[in-house]
Amino acid sequence: MEFVDTHAHLNDEKFAEDLEAVIARAGEAGVTRIINLGDTMDSSARAVALAEAHEGLFAGVGIHPEEAFEMTGRDIDRLADWAEHPKVAAIGEIGLDYYWEKDAEKRLLQQKIFIRQLDLARQLHLPVCIHDREAHGDMLAILKKEGKGLCGVLHCYSGSPEMAKEVFRMGWFIGVDGPLTFKNAAKLPEVMRGAPRDMVLLETDAPYMAPVPMRGKRNEPAYVRHVAEKVAELWGMSLEEVAARTTKNAECLYEKLLFHKEIPKK
Ligand code: NI
Repeated sequence: MEFVDTHAHLNDEKFAEDLEAVIARAGEAGVTRIINLGDTMDSSARAVALAEAHEGLFAGVGIHPEEAFEMTGRDIDRLADWAEHPKVAAIGEIGLDYYWEKDAEKRLLQQKIFIRQLDLARQLHLPVCIHDREAHGDMLAILKKEGKGLCGVLHCYSGSPEMAKEVFRMGWFIGVDGPLTFKNAAKLPEVMRGAPRDMVLLETDAPYMAPVPMRGKRNEPAYVRHVAEKVAELWGMSLEEVAARTTKNAECLYEKLLFHKEIPKK
């Protein structure tokens, strides 16, 4: 049985002490590949370097909305250079965050750099990994207008079942992680029950949002299995089948996953 953790933040300082052990534990738990997402220029550079240094590790490069700044042509050129790297699987994590950002002008800046990075992904033929927090209306509007010719995932999906239908109609994936296992998961179980089985990706968002029974602890890619168990329950499938399907889904969106070595098993 194998899993892909399609969304982790291994650059986080919470992994500074024991990253090698974290990756090894992921391998032991059946996680063959991890996509490590950058959120600033610096962390994107680190994500690329880590991907170069580790089998089974891939990178996403991009500017997260919480880190939004006026990007220069030089920043865009650097992102474009990284994107050509054989182990840079995505432009991300990019998107909109209206939970942390209440200022109208700064929200406009988020939209501007989000759209600029969508353009870049289209030019480079890379999928995008999207953060959408309390910005569902603007997110859908932007994806409809600016998302043509692009494919990607709404990571850590938090919208309604109705919005999910629209997302799937547009051919986009949703990513599911720890919150699905929480008691207050709200409409997420309903979203998952209604989701096409070939449009769902497993992720952890480590070090954040550890799934039950690890809730409250530092999250890590090995825990993706707990998310998969909850999906298996909701889909009425075996864990093996969920693992196989979601791995195939990850390879379908992130093609570069197919061409490199996996995390070595000890
Ligand atoms: Ni994230």
